[in-house]
Amino acid sequence: MFERRQRTVARGLSHVLPVFISAAGGGVLIDVDGNSLIDFGSGIAVTSVGNSAELVVSRVTEQVAQFTHTCFMVAPYEGYVEVCEQLNRLTPGDHDKRSALFNSGAEAVENAVKIARHATGRDAIVVFDHAYHGRTNLTMAMTAKNMPYKEGFGPFAGEVYRMPMAYPFRWPGGPARCAQEALSVITSLIHAQVGEENVAAVVIEPVQGEGGFIVPPDGFLPGLAAYCRESGIVFIADEVQSGFCRTGDWFACDHEGVVPDLVATAKGIAGGLPLAGVTGRAELMDSVHPGGLGGTYGGNPVACAAALGAIDTMEKEDLPAAARAIEAAMLPRLTKLAQTVPAIGDVRGRGAMLALELVRPGTLEPDAAAAAKVSRACHSAGMIVLTCGTYGNVLRLLPPLVIGESLLSEGIGILEEAFARL
Ligand SMILES: Cc1ncc(COP(=O)(O)O)c(C=O)c1O
Repeated sequence: MFERRQRTVARGLSHVLPVFISAAGGGVLIDVDGNSLIDFGSGIAVTSVGNSAELVVSRVTEQVAQFTHTCFMVAPYEGYVEVCEQLNRLTPGDHDKRSALFNSGAEAVENAVKIARHATGRDAIVVFDHAYHGRTNLTMAMTAKNMPYKEGFGPFAGEVYRMPMAYPFRWPGGPARCAQEALSVITSLIHAQVGEENVAAVVIEPVQGEGGFIVPPDGFLPGLAAYCRESGIVFIADEVQSGFCRTGDWFACDHEGVVPDLVATAKGIAGGLPLAGVTGRAELMDSVHPGGLGGTYGGNPVACAAALGAIDTMEKEDLPAAARAIEAAMLPRLTKLAQTVPAIGDVRGRGAMLALELVRPGTLEPDAAAAAKVSRACHSAGMIVLTCGTYGNVLRLLPPLVIGESLLSEGIGILEEAFARL
């Protein structure tokens, strides 16, 4: 199978593990040779409700037997409207909202930007160091890291301005001063280099994903949202990775009661089927003329059925609480591990979105080789962990929210052993 893959699939698609999966569920992937792998990746933060979750399977099965596609722009169906109702109800804030559905996180982010530009009549988009927003032309421009996401793929879309990120572990003035100093630098750079009156939107991941699971310090997001409000700038939260219960709240913005003007969602929303959404203030969303938004497959009925099953699961099984329980089980062990392993510079994250940043002991110098070595050791011991970070030195832990206690504990044990052999 691997040889066939090498002969037929483009080289640009890499893989974390040289395996082929034949079944998955309960936090375990089974490969075609019968090996079991503990899943601490959830298909990059997607299968939060588990793989083949019961309610996802039943809703999808029912829908697929009824009809698979009409195109919502041609002949609408109820599932699309129901998903929008759920998004309007669950995303932060109780103001009047509207939603539109798409296929991927990148598409959701692009559409949020389109809506913000249309509503404000402004062009500039502000993004941050370490940001990841996708692989389309505009979202590549918004993504910070060059290799592998942008190298050789330019020229990129214009009017995208990058600001420093409030990154407590690496903030020159130290974590205690990070929120206030970052806000002050960002607002003065926007004023001097872009002009507030030209900025359509500030786009931020409330907990950064691919860039290194960077959790901004308390006060930073509320301060940024307030600044946007005062300046007539649309505040867009990219909750593609952090949303849908992953961080212990329905959305990462809920942690500090931040209410974004627009929210981009995808990944965890539909139990593994491709679906994404933009949800936001009715007056912004409805500023776009009929026909200005859409796409052939966006909000496909089967993907909508999956989302309704996934959301039902999240509510019935209280998955925000499950994510907090995962944090309660993992964080003390990771913190203890950091006390014995000098290469672990920082332990961070919220809920079931946790990470270890590896450095050369006693310095801030990133150690990507150590992260690769630990992740390889986990892989050979039968566990999937992923790395991330601008410097490739962060191990990120993303178990499905429905993972059982003993499997979770076994997984952490594998990680501890991998570090013991570092
Ligand atoms: C925060 C964030 N935004 C956008 C995207 C892009 O989503 P997709 O890969 O579905 O296009 C990702 C994917 O990792 C993400 O983490």
